[in-house]
Amino acid sequence: MLDEALKQVAVIGAAGKMGSGISLVLLQEIAHAEAAASGRISGEPRLWLIDSNEEALLGLRAYLSAQLRRYAEKNIVALRSAFAEDEALTDNAEIIDAFVEGALKCARMHGDLHKVNRAQLVFEAIVEDVAVKTETYKQVRSQCGPETYFLTNTSSIPLGELDARAGLEGRIIGFHFYNPAPVQRLVEVICSAATVGPLRELAIELGKRLGKTLVMSKDVAGFIGNGHFMRELQHAAEQVADLGASMPDYQAVYLLNRVTQDWLVRPMGIFQLADYVGLDVCQNILRVMDTFIGDEELRCPLVDAFLDAGVRGGQFADGSQKDGVFAYERGRPAGVYSLSEGRYAAFGDAWLAEADAALGPLPEGHMAWRALARDRAAVEKLRPYFRALRAAETQGAQLARTYLRRSREIAQQLVDAGVAASPDDVTTVLTSGFYHLYGPANDLLWEG
Ligand code: CAA
Repeated sequence: MLDEALKQVAVIGAAGKMGSGISLVLLQEIAHAEAAASGRISGEPRLWLIDSNEEALLGLRAYLSAQLRRYAEKNIVALRSAFAEDEALTDNAEIIDAFVEGALKCARMHGDLHKVNRAQLVFEAIVEDVAVKTETYKQVRSQCGPETYFLTNTSSIPLGELDARAGLEGRIIGFHFYNPAPVQRLVEVICSAATVGPLRELAIELGKRLGKTLVMSKDVAGFIGNGHFMRELQHAAEQVADLGASMPDYQAVYLLNRVTQDWLVRPMGIFQLADYVGLDVCQNILRVMDTFIGDEELRCPLVDAFLDAGVRGGQFADGSQKDGVFAYERGRPAGVYSLSEGRYAAFGDAWLAEADAALGPLPEGHMAWRALARDRAAVEKLRPYFRALRAAETQGAQLARTYLRRSREIAQQLVDAGVAASPDDVTTVLTSGFYHLYGPANDLLWEG
């Protein structure tokens, strides 16, 4: 059934950050499977990449071309065997060219939503707005056959809500990739009460085929990943407000970001991550969660204040980071925005040394995330560090412990509400969707 469904696929919102990653992952699978099955890539159109921003589609082509080449280089052994029957392809460079050219021919880019009409599977990665998504699904539904399935990359909107508003009768499922989609292993799968059984099975089979780690989330706004991320962001903002009583606002933001990256041994600090995702996206997710989760206030005044000041983050079409909470140079934070002064405070200035001194030294045994990111023994290697972190009296260690306690509470809240089936599922979401090295319930952090 999956092979049949993968014959005609569409991605709506293909040129956005998530859409382009999803398009790449699908194109790699479609082209590689075709080469493996038939010894060639026919170049027949199979993947319809739709985006209303036609200029961004040009950027998507360049991205796909470069990434397909990297993929082919990394998978050259398997591709040699797939193309073994083709006598015209002898050396690796020819095989790589044949794969990239063949794959690109399978993909057709359009600004016109009508092109989805042939698709059996429609992926959607457009703006996180209930009304816009509903309208798009209504249009698409009227163009597609009754057997078309819809896989939405919504990061927060309850599936039951989208299904009911757009009249999809259980033919929609949440298939939530994490950013960047080709790198993060996680896909969060969300079924509504109406989602039909065959679609659920197909989504699970597809996730496995794409080599993804699947975690099922209950259909509650924000699901597991953003249920955790957004509440952590709120906590960080509250800490900034507290610290802001005794230091400039930008220093407090810098401190929280540094603690959540270096002290917690994560790939990015919390505010750099908010920039990476986009502050407008974070605000939209919070709004959706606040609307659909009745008994909790899910707002972040700090994010609202940054956006009011025109500070947005997000990425350019070539994937490079836009300025947001931080100003970036060659992809790395080089200054932090001061809301009170309306400008970026550069990292070169004297305040930085003062702020770092206020945090104190990193506890003994610290290792950088980058050094451990691909190390299966990372948790064991971090054990002495966390022992030292638990005992340290510095401001950095105190902020880190408070933050970790909040992270663990959030994880427990998600389990208690049935959003996540277990603490292990929260850990899997954080390690495979956010590239964390450990989860909030890990005894590494709390052992006596
Ligand atoms: N497409 C394809 N590949 C990409 C890519 C992209 N957009 N971005 C990065 N990569 C690849 C790089 O090419 C590189 O590949 P190789 O190892 O083969 O060379 C690899 O990823 C690592 O990239 P870098 O060396 O440039 O940088 P890094 O080691 O610092 O890792 C990162 C970058 C993977 C983004 C890492 O910093 C990270 O995981 N950060 C946390 C991101 C995160 O938390 N994402 C989840 C956000 S929340 C979300 O997505 C859900 C939501 O609904 C809001």
